[in-house]
Amino acid sequence: GYKEEYCALLRRKINMKYTFWGNSGTGKETAVALAARGARVIIACRDHEKAARAVREIKLRSRSFNVFHMELDLASLHSVREFCKKFLQQEKSLHILVNNAGMPGVLDWTNDGFSMCFGVNHLGHFLLTNLLLPRLKECAPSRVITLTCSCYKYQKLDFQDLNYNLLPFFTYCRSKLANIYFSQELARITEGKGVTSYAVHPGFVQSRWTCHYSFLFRILMQVVMWMFSVPCEIGAQTVVYCAVSNEAAKHSGGYFADCQPAALRPFARDAGVAKKLWEASERLVKLA
Ligand SMILES: NC(=O)c1ccc[n+]([C@@H]2O[C@H](COP(=O)([O-])OP(=O)(O)OC[C@H]3O[C@@H](n4cnc5c(N)ncnc54)[C@H](OP(=O)(O)O)[C@@H]3O)[C@@H](O)[C@H]2O)c1
Repeated sequence: GYKEEYCALLRRKINMKYTFWGNSGTGKETAVALAARGARVIIACRDHEKAARAVREIKLRSRSFNVFHMELDLASLHSVREFCKKFLQQEKSLHILVNNAGMPGVLDWTNDGFSMCFGVNHLGHFLLTNLLLPRLKECAPSRVITLTCSCYKYQKLDFQDLNYNLLPFFTYCRSKLANIYFSQELARITEGKGVTSYAVHPGFVQSRWTCHYSFLFRILMQVVMWMFSVPCEIGAQTVVYCAVSNEAAKHSGGYFADCQPAALRPFARDAGVAKKLWEASERLVKLA
């Protein structure tokens, strides 16, 4: 049954006009897949040169001219607000929002003084989604897909120290757990309003995430990835599935891996924690 639905999905054209995404790895592959299905794709990137190159490649591979880029740096809340202002002025529709961008575990700080992982992976997307939510509601049915990672299970959130920035891998795990709570709470508050929300684990993907680390670590990870990881096209499949499948639409708030709903550890399904994180995030990004 799954194989048949998957084959049907590969052929399905979508009439959703607007969507946006990133300039490398899983994000680029998702953009290719959605553009090839007829979507107008806007990739939101912090580096103009890279974005322009990615747009050229996405256009060529998807055989679509309907691909654009806009400037967005998720490490700056000011940039997120500017991006949303411009987007809402120039685009009348938004049907699929993919919160793909992600920093792996690095001990750095954003422009606003948040730890890089928490600031980019969670707070940047939190503010972005909230500012675009009115447009998503206007364009319902619409979907928000947030990339997370199965490593969420190795950490819990500490509300006394949301800005935790001590062990790189654990900062990443916490930000990916925050993505899951965010996606669940978003599903709860938009229930009955035509907006659905999904958290997606793309698998262990051969993307460019190692570029943030030392040469030696990169060599080591190339070997590990060669043995255990999947190409970015495969990593993008679950995202595309959540973007276009009728079956996925029945599981708003769900966690998906390998193009199907997957089980979460009980602590990651705690609606109380999801609500608490939402409220704390509203305060941190100064959302009125
Ligand atoms: N790779 C894996 O095995 C794996 C596993 C589980 C989950 N994930 C998740 O999948 C998502 C995609 O990652 P990937 O594997 O495709 O890695 P990737 O190739 O490194 O892509 C990450 C993207 O995020 C963008 N980005 C980073 N910081 C940004 C910022 N401040 N503002 C705007 N864009 C920013 C990067 O842009 P630049 O090119 O400008 O840096 C890049 O386009 C991430 O959320 C990641 O956590 C990945």
